[in-house]
Amino acid sequence: MQKEPVLLNLALVHHLVGQGALRQAAAYFSGYKKIFILVDENTEKICLPVFLRYLPEVDVTGYVRIISGESNKNIQTASSIWQQLTLFHAERDSLLVNLGGGVITDIGGFAAATFKRGMNFINVPTTLLGQIDAAIGSKTGVDFNEYKNQIGLFAHPKAVVIDPVFLATLDQKQIRSGYAEMLKYALIMDIPLLKLMGLQHLREINGNIGAMTIKAVSDKISIVEKDMHESGLRKLLNFGHTVGHALETFFLKTEHPVTHGEAIAAGMICATMISAGWPGFECHSPEQIYQTIDRDFTRLKFAGSDIPEIMRLMQQDKKTKENKLHFTLLYKLGEAVPDIIVPEEKVRESLHFYLRNQ
Ligand code: GLY
Repeated sequence: MQKEPVLLNLALVHHLVGQGALRQAAAYFSGYKKIFILVDENTEKICLPVFLRYLPEVDVTGYVRIISGESNKNIQTASSIWQQLTLFHAERDSLLVNLGGGVITDIGGFAAATFKRGMNFINVPTTLLGQIDAAIGSKTGVDFNEYKNQIGLFAHPKAVVIDPVFLATLDQKQIRSGYAEMLKYALIMDIPLLKLMGLQHLREINGNIGAMTIKAVSDKISIVEKDMHESGLRKLLNFGHTVGHALETFFLKTEHPVTHGEAIAAGMICATMISAGWPGFECHSPEQIYQTIDRDFTRLKFAGSDIPEIMRLMQQDKKTKENKLHFTLLYKLGEAVPDIIVPEEKVRESLHFYLRNQ
């Protein structure tokens, strides 16, 4: 049994992960003249009291507030963060603590990294998705027009503190969203994690969550440390994301937006279907993967007539180059291959397959 929390390093940045991480993190927040905490209306109410209870020694100068939600992850919200930091007379040597999910750590990192050419920031992710993905790997940014993460930069936080204590504050929808990314690591590289997840119905957050989070975080770190700027290996993390991002954007414009994880779960079904028919691949039991995903995620509701629009959105994604769709596919369970060019026809077929086989 692993003793928690554990300390993992990525580009010399400490990632303190697991039960008790907050309690042991005080040193990361010392030595700054001014400390600001970035919150949204949810994390201010629910997560901030937890943060302050475990870290009473953090001397907070002020709170920077934004409105929650992916639809607010834009340059206007970044501008409001810069505005609030300016009113607080924040300096380059001040610290911004990003307390929240993926939207907060993405936009907070971006705003901090660009404010006065870069002020310090620490990520304290509070959602499962943020803890195992968004807060790790130094990608920061905002959405632009209808495209996700179109504007941004790589910027290292001073530290990342990942404590499962926050997970108790989440509803099932948010847990499920992170669960999809956890399943992604399991499918592309980590069969022991797949076993730990039990190939079972998603349950209430249980005693295993700390161990599963540590495994997922170290999976992500092990990839990013070899390929920070996503020239090759890091693209493995895009499994399910080529179709998934397009679906997420598509639903964002409807009255029924879906979570990132719900979209990625759908994208993983499409990518698995393509993998199963890919020449030379050994992805022989895709049904097992479909069943695992279907047990926890209801199929997204779109129509065959929506597929041209979904394909159009995919064409605009950063993963599309010279009009060619790039996919990470499963060579077999636990092993994936990045950056495979998949013909559009095959992708369309996978979306029809997704709609048909439910
Ligand atoms: N979320 C994918 C990455 O960090 O590369």
